[in-house]
Amino acid sequence: MIDQATIERIVDAAHISDVVSEFVTLKKRGVNQLGLCPFHNEKTPSFTVSPAKGIFKCFGCGKGGNSVNFIMELEQLSYPDALRWLAKKFHIEIEEKEESQEEKALKDERESMMIVSAFAQKYFSRFLLKENEGRTIGLSYLRERGIRDDIITKFELGYCPDGKDLFTQAATREGYKMEFLEKTGLTIKRDDWVRDRFGGRVIFPVHNVAGRVIAFGGRTLTNDKKVAKYLNSPESEIYHKSKTLYGIYQAKRDITRLDKCYLVEGYTDVLSFHQAGIENVVASSGTSLTIEQIRLIRRFSPNITIVYDGDDAGIKASLRGIDMVLEEGINVKVLPLPRGEDPDSFARSMSAGELTEYIKKNETDFIKFKTQLLMGTVENDPVSKARLINEIVRSISIIPDTITRTVYIKECSRLMDVQEAVLYSEIRKIQNKQSEDHTRKEIQELQIQAAKPAAPVTARKIANPFETEEREILRILMKYFHQEVFEVEDETTHEIKTYTVGFYVLSELQNDGLVSVNPNVRSILSAFEENLENKEFDPVKFFTQHSDNEISQYASNLLAEKYIESKRWTKGGAFIETESELLYLLVPKLIQEYKLKNVKMLLKKLEHDINEASKNGETEKMMEYMNQFQNLKKVMKELSELLGFRTVS
Ligand code: CTP
Ligand code: MN
Repeated sequence: MIDQATIERIVDAAHISDVVSEFVTLKKRGVNQLGLCPFHNEKTPSFTVSPAKGIFKCFGCGKGGNSVNFIMELEQLSYPDALRWLAKKFHIEIEEKEESQEEKALKDERESMMIVSAFAQKYFSRFLLKENEGRTIGLSYLRERGIRDDIITKFELGYCPDGKDLFTQAATREGYKMEFLEKTGLTIKRDDWVRDRFGGRVIFPVHNVAGRVIAFGGRTLTNDKKVAKYLNSPESEIYHKSKTLYGIYQAKRDITRLDKCYLVEGYTDVLSFHQAGIENVVASSGTSLTIEQIRLIRRFSPNITIVYDGDDAGIKASLRGIDMVLEEGINVKVLPLPRGEDPDSFARSMSAGELTEYIKKNETDFIKFKTQLLMGTVENDPVSKARLINEIVRSISIIPDTITRTVYIKECSRLMDVQEAVLYSEIRKIQNKQSEDHTRKEIQELQIQAAKPAAPVTARKIANPFETEEREILRILMKYFHQEVFEVEDETTHEIKTYTVGFYVLSELQNDGLVSVNPNVRSILSAFEENLENKEFDPVKFFTQHSDNEISQYASNLLAEKYIESKRWTKGGAFIETESELLYLLVPKLIQEYKLKNVKMLLKKLEHDINEASKNGETEKMMEYMNQFQNLKKVMKELSELLGFRTVS
């Protein structure tokens, strides 16, 4: 273990230009230095060093980082080994310890903060239940709000005496150090005075997943609008608001057991749900929902129901929450509340049974929620309806899981009375745009670099590893777009439905979210989608005579590629069957090959990511990647089997 102070000394000493010029000849270019990249083969230099920023960046291969990263990459060393390499080079002594002083101190500090928090919680609880002031002021307030004693005990509610520093005095008397009272924010200290943060407030302790108290919320008992309704502990070494959910400790068992989590806004919402017997509930506590909070829930269940206040702010927060939750691959529902109610007031206005009944009846998936929210204004207005569809499709497009996406598309199609094909096409447009934005950014970066004087950087051509497959797919589409080849029997009606090659290919690509890096391919696919139902559409004519020169050229070249056809379908020089007779075999195979290649690329990338994470000692990241890797391996196996290959591991 190299301690942090030593790491800093090494990084300070190892100036990027000194380190790099050991291996690369650098020439001064303005404030930067330029040379030939040591990580890839190039003739014109695109490898830049910025001494001011302490970093290197190659605009040819994209590698970049600080001096430690440079050595890691070049010498293929782990992070600590690269540090040792640099230490030796710059004559810095490394004191290696099992655990550094700083780390130990930090650990001790966190532990001390938790201990003082545990003391405070017990003090506040005792004060609420046993002391006169606590009972007459704090406890009677909670009782007035209808909060039962078992809930007060379960959530370890408390009361902090109203006075300048009664709590702080008590804690100091018990031997707790001012340092930790201050660091936890329980005590506020200025040069010559101290006071309790929570004096005169009812206390809601915040527990971490393991059940230890890490922070507090304190509610004022006055109605004075100038006084903050809630005061919370400050961010600290043990309390990161954005990563914490109020109630997670008390809820986690039921979240797992019932495989579902209710998400509310505030402390009292959580209490009232518990009181009504619904214990799988957590609150984001006033902060707007964060990714970390969503991931915390996902550790216990992938199903979230958002229950926010029945006002405009609550609805807005729900809409925002929906998209964030969807993006994390979690199933999201919404429980709308009547105007003016929050989960707390609503739950208290009825019996536990009635609440359960209400939830059962009114819990809706996000599509219905959005639809109901906006439908009233839409009714006979096609423009608004289109906007609403777009709004919903946008949410669907960010769902990472294919099957879930498909289900929602079906529902949306039914609810909004739009054909699925249209929705698929809308989704693809959104994905195209995202992918385009990405490409545009990359290109911009290159252009900015290239525009700099005396920095001759050749714009990097974005390689498309799927070129062969995509050309073949487009060629098939151009030739057989309208041909009805696929038959599916409806499970209930036993009707036979036929699908065209176009529908099959486009929905398969769509389902797996496969988006080409080639903008021409994307435009061509979009045009196909727009004309899925258009029987007059003649792809060959349309694309070869396209006003965009690149597209017409691309299409002409494609259609000229006879050799693909003959290579695939001749044996010993003779045609076995014509291509069009074999479409029912050829097309699925082509799509599967394309998917397989995609999976293989992803696997390769993951392998690289796993190595990186392992080099940097990022165990959690590594585990996550390994998981993804395993899952993809399974997918690959299935795809390979469909294609009739045996998998070689
Ligand atoms: N909140 C906060 N600071 C504030 C106001 C609110 O931290 N000044 C957080 C609290 O976690 C609170 C949540 O935001 O529980 C929701 O706020 P609000 O709806 O205003 O409070 P309620 O939970 O409804 O509290 P009460 O019923 O006591 O008014
Ligand atoms: Mn309330």
